[in-house]
Amino acid sequence: MRSRRDFIKSAGASAGVFFLEGCVSCRVDRCYSVAVLGDTHYDAEPESVYHSHYDESNKWAAVQHEEFRRNGEMWRERCRRLLASSAVLAGAHPTRFLLQMGDIIQGDCDDVPTHRRMLDDCISMFRTAYPADLPFLTVMGNHDVRGKGARSAYLDFAESFASREASRLAGARVAAKYPVFSFRFGPDRWVFCDFETQDLQPVIDAIESDDGARHVFLVTHGPFTISEEQSYAWRLGGGKKCDALRPRLYEALSRRRAVVLSGHTHLTTFCRHENAFGGFCEFTANSVWKKELASLATGEAFCEDPSLFGATAAGLLEGEKLDRFKSELELFRPGVKEYFNSRAAGHFRLDVSDEDVIMFFYQGADTVPARRFALKHPAIENPWI
Ligand SMILES: [Fe+2]
Repeated sequence: MRSRRDFIKSAGASAGVFFLEGCVSCRVDRCYSVAVLGDTHYDAEPESVYHSHYDESNKWAAVQHEEFRRNGEMWRERCRRLLASSAVLAGAHPTRFLLQMGDIIQGDCDDVPTHRRMLDDCISMFRTAYPADLPFLTVMGNHDVRGKGARSAYLDFAESFASREASRLAGARVAAKYPVFSFRFGPDRWVFCDFETQDLQPVIDAIESDDGARHVFLVTHGPFTISEEQSYAWRLGGGKKCDALRPRLYEALSRRRAVVLSGHTHLTTFCRHENAFGGFCEFTANSVWKKELASLATGEAFCEDPSLFGATAAGLLEGEKLDRFKSELELFRPGVKEYFNSRAAGHFRLDVSDEDVIMFFYQGADTVPARRFALKHPAIENPWI
């Protein structure tokens, strides 16, 4: 087994090509990469391609038209380059699957055949970009089910799609059914859930179901860790209805030293929680590459101080909403030991081995990582490069 020092030396010297150097002592099935994308909001110009049935009486019409414009502009060229770079890396590393964190499409079609076409076009474009036959998993996001008839159209597609892809990975039949499904991939347990579920018990059960798993991953579109935004409650376990079970999920994740992977906020965020139960890490991925590249080099890492966890959102809220935020914050705040929060966007790569779970962040369409985050390793300190 490689020593911790050897690993750091290797990764620090050449983080992007760790596996190309050879993780010589790892068996192939215990040492793998995952290509990761945050929200992609696939859409196209002009609006009539997917939004010709859009209901203009929608009270959010102005905001949503602005989103269509943003997406069309993003997918004209930039996000295609981002996808191409992610695909190049997927071919250069021992990548076992593509993982997209939900809101894969924009939705807002208000017409079932159009919603389905948006999904099919998106999946087909992603499939074409990545190496042939690469398994592909995506988790349900709010945009995936947004619009008239969209929820059932998405579930018809997603549950059979996820069942097929997860079965390929598991080497056994997986029946993927929301709100929660899970499967073994080699030594690891992967749990996927609908982040808007108000019953956290099945999520807890799935996390606690596999004592023998090496690593436990929870994939949820909306983060579990409270986020730095006014809509902080719109997440897995947010809001009063989850008050009773939220601490139980926190405990279950901590006891298993789980890794939570999420999207939704359009922020790139890393949070390491340590507590009396153990601890867990959450990484939120952002692939919404808006016009300006939110660069780490230009001060877009707007918070890296764990003592300031929650301060940004607290500054945006007042009255009852602020009180409520503080009450939900209190579960998380004392245990936050590392915190990184940025508007930077790009693509990601997860490297999984016996010793470590590492997330690499590639800004925009870069193929050299801007930063790496240790989501799990034996001597957790500050391992960023
Ligand atoms: Fe979302």
